[in-house]
Amino acid sequence: MTRVKEPVVSVHLPSDWAASGLVQDVRRGLGAQPRSLPPKWLYDDRGSELFDLITRLPEYYPTEAERSILHAHADRIALLSGATTLVELGSGTSDKTRILLDAFAATGQLQRFVPVDVSEGTLRGAAEQISAAYPGVQVEALVGDFTLHLGHLPTGGRRMVAFLGGTIGNLYVEERAAFLGALADSLAPGDSLLLGTDLVKSADRLIAAYDDPRGVTAEFVGNSLRVVNRELGADFDLDAFGYVAFWDPLMERMDLRLRAEVPQHVRIPGAGLEIDLAAGEEIRVEISTKFRPEGVRAELAAAGFHVEEVFTDVAGDFALTLATRTGVPAAR
Ligand code: SAH
Ligand code: TRP
Repeated sequence: MTRVKEPVVSVHLPSDWAASGLVQDVRRGLGAQPRSLPPKWLYDDRGSELFDLITRLPEYYPTEAERSILHAHADRIALLSGATTLVELGSGTSDKTRILLDAFAATGQLQRFVPVDVSEGTLRGAAEQISAAYPGVQVEALVGDFTLHLGHLPTGGRRMVAFLGGTIGNLYVEERAAFLGALADSLAPGDSLLLGTDLVKSADRLIAAYDDPRGVTAEFVGNSLRVVNRELGADFDLDAFGYVAFWDPLMERMDLRLRAEVPQHVRIPGAGLEIDLAAGEEIRVEISTKFRPEGVRAELAAAGFHVEEVFTDVAGDFALTLATRTGVPAAR
């Protein structure tokens, strides 16, 4: 009988990460115009719970679309990648990842699972559940920021990095290039990347997916101000903000903002900042870029990844791209 191995959780965020990183981001983002806030601050415990609710909304199609692709092709992905270590970036609850883990477990090739997330509570919970469900697999969870800590990924064996949920679309194009370049640097030739990207589609469906009638998404985006209030002692009046989700057809991305409905003077003592928001002034909290397969291929190639296969769901809403790290990285 295989013994259940305890999950190992290592924390690569300094204990004052939320405070110190948030201070910088708030000074840089809220102190400038147009105002913005980086999305990683959406995912405190409450934010992670709200995101989990979003994935169950009928309007939010990406989760089910990606799940159906995994069901159809996980066996082939496990075979093609030949991985003995599965890394997952921005893993959250790792719910869909179980489909991959099942496929890998069936081949007997998988030794290690390394989920990586900034949301420590959610990550610890997922690590324990996965560890119990897959007794032959060593779970080594990493609390860290995938834009900063890719150098800490464990080495050895053949690795596949899964980055699901369309989370790469939450990065700006230059951030994506830096991220993919750093990821390529941390991988060896033959290691692979399984990348989930939401695809360009009608504005109506996109807006419905990011502005649900029950207001769960508005609550999720508004939670970022609650994080700033709590961590930095700010006095944002959450009720004074509306939620705006629009499709930017030029950039091909959803643009998600909070709008001050009335003029506001906001104190953010933890960042040594006071800001005046005019009525109607907006804070951009997140973008969600939608892709075309050829664009994904080009961004991957520029970073040193060769596309092996692109899988889509029947409706063509979402893509999973399996790419390998090439021997000679492209110049960058
Ligand atoms: N992979 C899951 C969750 C996607 S939500 C899915 O497909 O449903 C995005 C996840 O990425 C959240 O769990 C969030 O906490 C995490 N995250 C966001 N920014 C991050 C960052 N910079 N570093 C590490 N994790 C991050
Ligand atoms: N990665 C998810 C996406 O881009 C994150 C997300 C889902 C999200 N719904 C959201 C971010 C609503 C902000 C607002 O689809």
